[in-house]
Amino acid sequence: MTLPIHTMAEALQQTSLMRFIRHFEAMFPDLHMKDLAVDHIGPGREMVINNHRVINFGSDSFLGLDQDPRVLQALHKGIDRWGSHNGSSRAFTSVAANVEAEERIAAWLKTESALIYPSVTLTNAGAIPGLVTKHDAIFCDEFAHNSIQEATKIAKAGGTRVFTFRHNDVDHLTAQIQAARPYRHALITIDGVYSMSGELPPLREFHELSLRNQAILYVDDAHGTGVLGSHGRGTIYDALGTYENVLAIGSLSKAFSCFGGFIGCPNELHQLLKIRSNSYVFGGPVPPCYFDAILTVLDIFTSSEYDQLIQKLQNNLQHLVNGIRAIGLDVLGGLTPILSIPIGHEEDTLRAGAFLFEQGYYVQSVTFPAVPYHGGVLRIQANANHTEEQINGLLGTLALIAAQQPESSAA
Ligand SMILES: Cc1ncc(COP(=O)(O)O)c(C=O)c1O
Repeated sequence: MTLPIHTMAEALQQTSLMRFIRHFEAMFPDLHMKDLAVDHIGPGREMVINNHRVINFGSDSFLGLDQDPRVLQALHKGIDRWGSHNGSSRAFTSVAANVEAEERIAAWLKTESALIYPSVTLTNAGAIPGLVTKHDAIFCDEFAHNSIQEATKIAKAGGTRVFTFRHNDVDHLTAQIQAARPYRHALITIDGVYSMSGELPPLREFHELSLRNQAILYVDDAHGTGVLGSHGRGTIYDALGTYENVLAIGSLSKAFSCFGGFIGCPNELHQLLKIRSNSYVFGGPVPPCYFDAILTVLDIFTSSEYDQLIQKLQNNLQHLVNGIRAIGLDVLGGLTPILSIPIGHEEDTLRAGAFLFEQGYYVQSVTFPAVPYHGGVLRIQANANHTEEQINGLLGTLALIAAQQPESSAA
């Protein structure tokens, strides 16, 4: 008997995304390096995949804190203190370390208060629908992160009107706001850093627009946390000098190398968000052992050591950017530690990624649908704990790829 679950799986295999992925896997079975299982990590940025040792240039742990003995020790201490899990939604109980971490995040960010969720995705999924009602509107940048787009769909299901404006386009946003009136209040939802392109939004213009139009600026700064702004507090405060009428979302995973996401908000929203965010009320929290590690990272961010760490990262990033240009390849990004080398055709992009892997360097080969069709890129992430030798090794291997590129794709 064919069960409904089988017919469902079969129907889903026929959706365009699945057909595209399967087609790719069939065309490039040896090149398609997705879904890899890593056997071993460390020391430093080394990792072992299928008995093959590679240097990882695909890690979001930009400052290398995932390997820092102080962070690891704090995590062990957290396990001894709290066990592996606190066993209830925070709507009932929170461990004291969670509350302390929120206070310390707010002090570091310079917001009145902060609330931690288990990820940035769940921050957006909880806070965005929680902040609006059927009387309100959301204006969302067309390139805002997928988790923001998905959160606006939940809000829309609750009756909020959702409008998309052209990427970073102040005039289009202004026109959308005028067309959408009347509304009671609105959210303008954007990324603090667009990680695929490395672009920043025009924060000042968006902020002024929000103040004039009964709107609140909601900035997902996941990629700015830890690597941009003074003491790594992200792009917002350094650009605006205030959080007045702004909600600042950040990541405790990526550069923080711990676990979770947060929203920096005024005191008057702290309790409201706790009650109105479904992902907070109906889901579990960050495992409690992480909070001592989060506090340790905050100690590092707020000390003079942070300047040394960020300098190391900047040096590595500059070394990579200069080196890639010197071998005649184009490179996008460089403001954050994520660089993209445009390759173009999907097969060429996958082939380049597989070649680097064989030579001992892991970078991500990004192809459609994550980027436009035939707009494949090699995505390279600089980390503060990459060594000069590792970077030179990667550049040497990229030079071999550059030698194979047609003239037109060189910088
Ligand atoms: C802007 C932005 N928001 C959210 C996320 C998702 O973060 P998390 O893995 O914590 O859910 C990412 C991940 O890359 C991101 O770039």
